[in-house]
This record gives sequence, structure tokens and C-alpha cells, in this order.
Amino acid sequence: MGAPRVLLLGAPGAGKGTQSRRLVEEFGVEHVTTGDALRANKDMETEYGTPREFMEAGDLVPDPVVNEIVEAALSEADGFVLDGYPRNESQVEYLDGITDLDAVLYLAVAESELIARLTGRRVCEDCGANYHVEFNPPEEPGVCDECGGDLYQRDDDTEAVARDRIETYRESTEPVIEYFREKGTLVEIDGEQTPDEVWTDVHEAVAERADP
Ligand code: AP5
Ligand code: MG
Ligand code: ZN
Repeated sequence: MGAPRVLLLGAPGAGKGTQSRRLVEEFGVEHVTTGDALRANKDMETEYGTPREFMEAGDLVPDPVVNEIVEAALSEADGFVLDGYPRNESQVEYLDGITDLDAVLYLAVAESELIARLTGRRVCEDCGANYHVEFNPPEEPGVCDECGGDLYQRDDDTEAVARDRIETYRESTEPVIEYFREKGTLVEIDGEQTPDEVWTDVHEAVAERADP
């Protein structure tokens, strides 16, 4: 018994954050996301420098920094949806040593779609909800439907940084997808459908694998 432990994999802009929010609502799990945690601590001094330096270059923040964030968050969570981690093979090994997973989902989106999704994204500064100026617009431009907060554009959603992030993904994170595919646990979901259609598939995949 217990809430499901879900890993959500996908490229930058694949829809991990969008679908994670729905998993949180539906299954009562914690949203454990290294991206949000790092954005909230961008100027934290570490022995490697600040997260900001890596994030604004589209690079990965050093493993020890993110491993520590994830270990602390998972130790407090019953069920969770893990979003944005693991992003390389060493993070996969670390994760394997700290938890089991009930479902590993991969949101598949062609690279050609990602730049448009990233550069048009807007995020609520109060509740973190994601919108898109064209594909998923709020009712009133610049205002969050859910809480009325102001929407902003992420620093790393410029076209240049988005391209660097996709490059980093290709080099470091695609091997992670391959690892789970070879292990036989990867559930591939068509992430190019509408957000509601993607959710139908995500929900089904998690419900099937969660304890009754
Ligand atoms: P992070 O915040 O994790 O960014 P990311 O992986 O690049 O993913 P995104 O948040 O950009 O995309 P998403 O999949 O959540 O998409 P969303 O749902 O918003 O990481 C940022 C940085 O932090 C990294 O570059 C790195 O520096 C650092 N970092 C983080 N984790 C790390 C780790 N483990 N190790 C080292 N460094 C780490 O959707 C995107 C847009 O598309 C939105 O506008 C949305 O409205 C729209 N959209 C969503 N679904 C659909 C759909 N079905 N159809 C059309 N549009 C859609
Ligand atoms: Mg995200
Ligand atoms: Zn909001």
C-alpha cells in the first residue's frame, strides 16, 4: 500500500512539469523536481559555484548538488513524481541506491517541437503552473487561471539556451532513456498529443502500476 513512485522522463519541453501537476492532484504524490528546486536556490554557493552559472549555459548542475536535493526530498515523500532527475548515468546509479520505482514513463516529443514549446512557455510565479502563449494559453494573457498570479518567462527559455539544453539532453540524458528501455521498464507515451490526451495515457500507465 502507498502512493505510487513515478519517474517521468522527457526532453526539455516534453511536458514533464505539465503532467506532474496532474499526477500530484490525482494520486496525492509529492512533485520532486530538481529544476524547480535549483531555480529556488539559483545563487546558493556550493563548492562548484552557483546553480545559475550552469543553468544559464544549459549545462547540468554537478551531480553531488542534485543528488543531495533528491535524496532529501525522497526521504520525506511517501509517493512521488520525480521530474528532471536522473539526467545522466551517474544519477541513475545514485537513484537506484536510494529508492524503488513503480512506473517509469517517457514523454516522447520530436526535437523539432521542443524549441517552440520552450520559447512560448510562461510560468506562474506564485503556484508554478505552466502555460504556453499559443498551445496552452491562459484565459487572460499574463495571468494564471488557477491562482491569479503573474506569469513570467524562464531565464533559460531563450532560443539560444533552449538549444544548448537540448544538446545537453541528447548527450547526457538520452542514455538514461536507453537504460530504462533496455531494462524493460520504460513506458513510452506519445507526448505530441494534446495535454489532455497525454494525461489519459499517463494516468492509465500509473494506475495500472500503482498498488490498489
Ligand atoms: P528543468 O527545469 O528540469 O528543465 P527541463 O528538463 O529542460 O524541462 P522543462 O521544465 O523545460 O520542460 P518540461 O518537460 O517540464 O515541460 P513543460 O511541462 O513545462 O531543468 C532546468 C535546468 O536545471 C537544467 O537545464 C539544468 O541546468 C538544471 N537541472 C535540473 N535537473 C538537473 C539534474 N538532475 N542534474 C543536473 N542539472 C539539473 O512544458 C513545456 C511547454 O510546453 C509549456 O509551455 C507547456 O504549456 C507546453 N506543453 C506541455 N504539454 C504540451 C502538449 N501536450 N502540447 C503542446 N504544448 C504543451
Ligand atoms: Mg519542467
Ligand atoms: Zn498560479
